[in-house]
Amino acid sequence: MLPYPVKIAPSLLSCDFARLGAEVAAVTQAGADMIHIDVMDGHFVPNLSIGPDIVKAIRPYSSLPFDVHLMTSPADMLIDLFAEAGADLLTIHPEAGPHPHRSLQKIRAHRKKAGLALNPATPLNVLDYVLDELDLILVMSVNPGFGGQAFLDSQLTKIKAVRERIGARPVDLAVDGGIGLETAPKVIAAGANVLVAGTAIFKTPDYAQNIKALRV
Ligand code: DX5
Ligand code: ZN
Repeated sequence: MLPYPVKIAPSLLSCDFARLGAEVAAVTQAGADMIHIDVMDGHFVPNLSIGPDIVKAIRPYSSLPFDVHLMTSPADMLIDLFAEAGADLLTIHPEAGPHPHRSLQKIRAHRKKAGLALNPATPLNVLDYVLDELDLILVMSVNPGFGGQAFLDSQLTKIKAVRERIGARPVDLAVDGGIGLETAPKVIAAGANVLVAGTAIFKTPDYAQNIKALRV
């Protein structure tokens, strides 16, 4: 028995973009716990994806929290736009700009939850002086930018170490990238309590079954 429930966050990156609103409603109906929205700027990562107007347009299709993952540099201007568009949680990367602490404060000033994402090569010491500013830590188990990449086993030791750092704090530990039936049990055993998954949820039709299977 786990000390916390596992939450599933479908990543819209793998959904049918031609039917975006319906896809958001479908995973909501299928038992998701939050909606993971990947924002890419073609600069911090080599891809482009979803902007604030799109988030605003899909907001009415779900009452679940919108978890906006900002893979952008800088992040601050976009924090304002996505907070206004309907985000509930905003996650930044520490490499996005020179003042991650200030960016986290900015997120909380909007009364939104604040997250910090760690790329596969980002060391844990970026957490040293910001843990109390965080509601979520997102361990990237792939290099950000694309769905459908292979899970990096090297991140399992990082997940364990982050769980230790969190201690008794009310901070979620999310894992993003390559999560599927084989890797979900490993990241949960390592201490993750939020699983972000795109391919594993959207690429086969029974979303409810796909979500249930990831809870292990
Ligand atoms: C990658 C994104 C992920 C991605 C995960 O840059 O942050 O959220 O959509 O996709 P899968 O689950 O297919 O690895
Ligand atoms: Zn993501």
